[in-house]
Amino acid sequence: MVKIAPSILSADFARLGEEVKAIDAAGCDWVHIDVMDGHFVPNLTFGPPVIKCIRSWSDKPFDVHLMINPAQPFIEDYAKAGADLITVHAEADVHLDRSLQLIRSLGKKAGVSLNPHTPESVIEYVLDKLDLILVMSVNPGFGGQSFIDSQLEKISRIRRMIGDRPIDLEVDGGVNPETAGKVVAAGANVLVAGSAVFKGSDYAANIKALRG
Ligand code: DX5
Ligand code: ZN
Repeated sequence: MVKIAPSILSADFARLGEEVKAIDAAGCDWVHIDVMDGHFVPNLTFGPPVIKCIRSWSDKPFDVHLMINPAQPFIEDYAKAGADLITVHAEADVHLDRSLQLIRSLGKKAGVSLNPHTPESVIEYVLDKLDLILVMSVNPGFGGQSFIDSQLEKISRIRRMIGDRPIDLEVDGGVNPETAGKVVAAGANVLVAGSAVFKGSDYAANIKALRG
């Protein structure tokens, strides 16, 4: 069963609580929260206080994608703000193993994300410390970009690396009803979608269309 994690980057920030409630009611599985620092990625979003404010608008898992460098000093703040899964970028963390251990020690699920140019070999020796692998299928920073097809091969290779470990394989960027099928066929089981979910007003139909 494929999980759908709408990215609130494409939501109406003036009504963020209501938007989170709306995607919950529309049948999403997780709420994907894009944290950007204007340094690791060329855009700026929000931090722990905003996540804390929207926490009460849904009981679904908060999937917090940290596009920040450094991430490690802030991990505890995101855990306290209400994250259930915390994902750091392999490119932003010189001590990835340590960050993953810290996330789990706080009782949260630990994820690592890979930019489009990053080979999957960087996670080979931390596989047993991971609950989630997030493959970026666009260069992170903005919603509404086009899916980079070369990532399909990477998704397949990571699916083989995972083997029978209980690790979710999530794909983020340019996922829409046209690209979702090939992403799932390559081996992903969690789809992030921003613009494809928040377009128009029928979020339930948009989520259903992604499930194929
Ligand atoms: C990109 C973010 C994504 C983004 C996806 O940096 O990590 O989660 O919101 O947006 P769409 O689905 O519009 O490509
Ligand atoms: Zn994201």
